[in-house]
Amino acid sequence: MSNISHKKKGKPKELMDLPGVGPAIAKKLMEAGYKNIISIAVATPAELANAADIGENAARKIIEAAREALDLGFETADVVYEKRMKVGRITTGSRNLDKLLAGGIETQAITEVFGAFRSGKTQLAHQLAVNVQLPPEKGGLSGKAIYIDTEGTFRPERICQMAQAIGLEPKTALKNIIYARAYNSDHQMLLVQQAQEVVEDENVRLLVIDSLTSHFRAEYPGREMLAERQQKLNRHLHMLQRLADVANLAVFVTNQVMARPDVYFGDPTEPVGGHVLAHVPQTRLYLRRAKDNRRICRLVDSPYLPEGEVVFVITEEGIRDP
Ligand SMILES: Nc1ncnc2c1ncn2[C@@H]1O[C@H](COP(=O)(O)OP(=O)(O)OP(=O)(O)O)[C@@H](O)[C@H]1O
Ligand SMILES: [Mg+2]
Repeated sequence: MSNISHKKKGKPKELMDLPGVGPAIAKKLMEAGYKNIISIAVATPAELANAADIGENAARKIIEAAREALDLGFETADVVYEKRMKVGRITTGSRNLDKLLAGGIETQAITEVFGAFRSGKTQLAHQLAVNVQLPPEKGGLSGKAIYIDTEGTFRPERICQMAQAIGLEPKTALKNIIYARAYNSDHQMLLVQQAQEVVEDENVRLLVIDSLTSHFRAEYPGREMLAERQQKLNRHLHMLQRLADVANLAVFVTNQVMARPDVYFGDPTEPVGGHVLAHVPQTRLYLRRAKDNRRICRLVDSPYLPEGEVVFVITEEGIRDP
C-alpha cells in the first residue's frame, strides 16, 4: 500500500497523529472500536461523530485525513495499474472454476456467490479458507483467512478434511482461520470493523462472510423496510470494498436465493430483493445443483471477464473437477 504512495514525511500512523484528534477523542474512538487509521478511513461521518461525541463536520475532517494518510483519493492511472499488478488469486480447487475466474478468487475485490440451499456456497467458502494458505505456486497466497459465520454452518472438521487432501497440516490450517460468529447485522458490521485490526496484525488475505444477507433479511422484512435494509447493506459492502483495497485481500460473500415458484418469466438467477447488492461486488457467481454431486457455476457479472458456465463437484476432499 505505502509503496504506491507519493512520499510524504511524517504520515499519520496513529489516531493522535490525525489533525483534530486529541487524547480525549482518541480515547473515545478507541473505546468505540476505532483503533487504527484504516478503521477511521472506512467509517462514515455519522458513525464517527456518534462514537467520539463530535460534530459531523469535525468527523468528516478526521476521516478525510485518515483517507489521505492511506492514499484513498485520486491517483494517476499508472498507480492504479501498479496496484492491479498486485492482485492475487486464490484457487477454488477446481480447474474449471479457476479458468472461469481467470485464475481464482481475486484480491482487492468482493466476490459474491449466490444460489439456493445446498448449492455449495458454504463448501466453496471453506475451500477458499483452506486454499488461501497454500503458497503462490500452488494457487494460494500464503495467508490467513477471517471467517464470519452468520448461520452457524462453519465446520472445522470439514476444514481438516480439505486441508489434509491438499497436504496441509489440519491443525495449522485451523489456526490460520480466524473465526467469528455474527449474531445480528450490527454485530456483523462490528466484526468487519474489528477485522481491520486483525488484518493489520496478521497476514490475512481472505475475508469470508457466510452469509452476507441472512441477518439483514431477517431483521428488515417486507417492502417497507427494503430501503433501510439496502442502505445498511450498502454501507457494509463499501466498508468491505475499502478493506479489500487497502489490505489487498479477497472478500468472499455468500447470498442465498430462494426458489420462486411464482416467477415464470424473467431471469431465475436474479437474487430476490438483491438489486442494490448488484452494484457493489465485482464478480458474481451463480451456483446451482445438477445431477449427482455436480454443481454448475455461472459467472454472471464481471468487470472484465466474459460470462460463462462451468461444472464442478463437491467431494470428500473438497471442491474438484468432475
Ligand atoms: N464431506 C462432503 N463430501 C461430499 N459432499 C459434501 C460434503 N459436505 C458437504 N457436501 C455437499 O455440499 C452440500 C452442501 O452445500 P453447502 O452447505 O455449501 O450449501 P449452501 O449453498 O451453503 O446452502 P445454504 O444456502 O443452505 O447455506 C451437501 O448437500 C453435499 O452435497
Ligand atoms: Mg451455506
